[in-house]
Amino acid sequence: MSLRDNIDQQHLPAHVAIIMDGNGRWAKERGKDRLYGHHEGVQSVREVVEAAAELGVRYLTLYAFSTENWDRPTEEVNGIMELLVATIRREIETLQKNNIRLHVIGDEDMLPATCRQELREASALTAGNTGLNLIMALSYSSRWEITDAVKKIAAEAAAGRIRPAEISQELFRQYLCTRPFPDPELMIRTGGEHRISNFLLYQLAYAELYFTQARWPDFRKENFYEAILDYQTRERRFGKTSEQIQQNEPIVP
Ligand code: IPE
Ligand code: IPE
Ligand code: MG
Repeated sequence: MSLRDNIDQQHLPAHVAIIMDGNGRWAKERGKDRLYGHHEGVQSVREVVEAAAELGVRYLTLYAFSTENWDRPTEEVNGIMELLVATIRREIETLQKNNIRLHVIGDEDMLPATCRQELREASALTAGNTGLNLIMALSYSSRWEITDAVKKIAAEAAAGRIRPAEISQELFRQYLCTRPFPDPELMIRTGGEHRISNFLLYQLAYAELYFTQARWPDFRKENFYEAILDYQTRERRFGKTSEQIQQNEPIVP
């Protein structure tokens, strides 16, 4: 029996975000080098993407590489970039077959040209797909994103196109790289750490957080179902009281 059978299809999160952590430790624990862990992690990506698509989750954001990860040893950074290009090339057919649309968020300018090119092509090729939206966070960090948004808004204001009084939460969102997507309802972090590591700080304001010891290469379909089931036991209150929620008052965050 699969945990999938216990999932309430009526209460699926529309958007799940995942910090895929623990590849390095997973490899070290097996006497291998860190890159081996990153390679093994690709199989987990495949499984989790498939599980999300099958369930009917609309958006899946995967944190694959942070702005801060550029400071890792060159060998590891290059290995991850090569793995990324090879994986996209190989998986593009599967994305098409499963009607999955690829999006990328992050500071593209930091990525090697081949990588950028590959990602652009894959995003363009899958742009017409209407199933799962797979959002890869690459060279992404929230502080970069928020600072970038502020810079753009300030430029608009300086040019007289925005009045400071007009700056609302709705307007601000339009300048984040996640503007086409709803906020995640569920954020999963694998690998045992209990922190956010500069991921979607603004968008996770009311997300349910789920932490698991499982290293990312060990996180497979059943682990994903387990996280969804845990999410389904939570009462999301958005600042209200439990009574208000149970009386079915509209829960607009
Ligand atoms: C996550 O695994 C993948 C990336 C950050 C690229 P790590 O490489 O951080 O693995 P640990 O946390 O060192 O085990
Ligand atoms: C977060 O993991 C980034 C990704 C999973 C891509 P890190 O391994 O970089 O985070 P810290 O350093 O443990 O906070
Ligand atoms: Mg880590």
